[in-house]
Amino acid sequence: MPTKFSQSASALNTFAPRLLDWFKTDGRHDLPWQQHQTDTPNPYIVWLSEVMLQQTQVTTVLPYFARFMASFPTVQDLAAADWEVIAEHWAGMGYYARARNLHKGAKQLVEIINETGDYPQTLVGWEAISGVGPSTAGAIMAMGLHKYGVICDGNVKRVLTRWAAIDGDITKSVTTKQLWALAERLTPKDNSGLFAQAMMDMGATLCVRRNPNCQLCPLKADCLAHAEGRETDYPVKAKKKPKPSKFSNALIIENAQGDILWLQRPDNGIWGGLWSLPLQFVEKVEGDTNSKIMTGTQNLNVSSNEKIYESEFTTSEQIIYEWLIENKLVAKPVSNTLLDDAPIKHSLTHFHWYLQPQRVVVDNKQITELKDRLNAADIEFKWLGQQKARDSLGLPRAMIKIIEV
Ligand code: ADE
Repeated sequence: MPTKFSQSASALNTFAPRLLDWFKTDGRHDLPWQQHQTDTPNPYIVWLSEVMLQQTQVTTVLPYFARFMASFPTVQDLAAADWEVIAEHWAGMGYYARARNLHKGAKQLVEIINETGDYPQTLVGWEAISGVGPSTAGAIMAMGLHKYGVICDGNVKRVLTRWAAIDGDITKSVTTKQLWALAERLTPKDNSGLFAQAMMDMGATLCVRRNPNCQLCPLKADCLAHAEGRETDYPVKAKKKPKPSKFSNALIIENAQGDILWLQRPDNGIWGGLWSLPLQFVEKVEGDTNSKIMTGTQNLNVSSNEKIYESEFTTSEQIIYEWLIENKLVAKPVSNTLLDDAPIKHSLTHFHWYLQPQRVVVDNKQITELKDRLNAADIEFKWLGQQKARDSLGLPRAMIKIIEV
């Protein structure tokens, strides 16, 4: 009977035993979140670690995971924690939406546990938790509950596209479906958690993106990419469009004692819920721009080829912007670089962000006026010196870079 896979039935059938034999002797067995050997697996540990490992490497995750487990040993502890404490624990790992999802997910899980007496027990149940996609849900089912679960994350996709010479664009759903079908075909019904861990190790240690170590690979005899010496041609991924650039001023508004104004960002958007300096998005305008500069208010903080990007202002930044103009305060760049070479470059998922620190020192009367306006709008703010802010606010890494300039 013809198979819908490019590999023979015997290759498909022996994939798992070969991989598991290799894992037994050469895999990693000491990662602190591994639950495949325990009789009583802890789904909380697997959920937490898998979310951390979604976009961050094992070596980076290890100390973060340890701190999370020390401070929030149970899902109830995480659900009950203040967001600021969680943000502080996460600071530096990037992709903060994951931390927000963890907090939200913990609350969802506690609600489910209170209602049913246990964690979700099905794939669909886990996929309903914030931040949990199909592969993370499969990993939790397999490793966190010792039930049947299939994983197909980036590492697994690399192993499978090579082994079966799947040359479709992995960002397209037709290829994704093909890869999931193959992952399901290969995953043993029993002990799929062990298999999941072995697949992750294969992708992370041997079948790596550049210079895969094929000599040690238990799958090399029938790896179709290896047969052609074309391992690194897989996976095929459409070229990404270059990321656009955005430019912002980051305002260091300082009082006579050297304390700086910090604002809590709104929950959605960049750095949701984290503390940040007030930002002013600046839209670059090409060519002669005099006619395109913002009109209506006298704009003291904008040079002729920049325009404050008002639509991205938060309410608090709007208040600050107006307060600066009314008080005829001009924030000056901390360094003299042009905006294009702004000292801080921060790359996010969808754009590169250039941040230009600008400093302005203000007097007590001006501060009182600003505080009154922020209080009237119910905005959370703090005045803290650089060191105190670093120690107590869980600042995003780009903010730390700015105050170090
Ligand atoms: N990457 C994603 N999940 C992982 C895990 N459980 N162990 C090692 N690397 C991983």
